Amino acid sequence: MRRVLMVCLGNICRSPLAEGILKSKVNNDEVFVDSAGTGAYHVGNLPDARSIEVAAKYGINIKDQRARKFVVKDFDKFDAIYVMDDSNYQNILSLARSIEDEEKVKLILNEAYPNKNLNVPDPYYGGDSGFENVYKMLDEACNFISKKL
Ligand code: 4NP
Repeated sequence: MRRVLMVCLGNICRSPLAEGILKSKVNNDEVFVDSAGTGAYHVGNLPDARSIEVAAKYGINIKDQRARKFVVKDFDKFDAIYVMDDSNYQNILSLARSIEDEEKVKLILNEAYPNKNLNVPDPYYGGDSGFENVYKMLDEACNFISKKL
């Protein structure tokens, strides 16, 4: 079983989408996909309504997800930890206990655009088009991730 964790700040906008999209592209008996946030503001909450809406538009249900905060034990539980932006990267890296932990943390868009260190923009304070844009970025990245899993 491969285990992949998607991480953003609130675990209500970007990483729930990434979780739902990757789950839709892999054999869920072989790959376990989860998501978490670096912050605790929204723990226990549903994904943002705009994320639920854009996912549903593409046939993906993310309404069963609830936000949780990243914990250090996630380094033991997951093989790969995909973060959305530089801020998430620094936050997760600061919790790493070893080189092995550090090596699990990757910027998700580097899967599609190696070494470019591009960020998935935080759509929280924007309009619906931000969510569509985020969806497309994550869909492309998850195509690469699913192929190499
Ligand atoms: P996410 O978006 O990190 O993609 O889930 C955010 C959601 C909530 C907040 C920030 C970003 N917030 O500050 O509450």
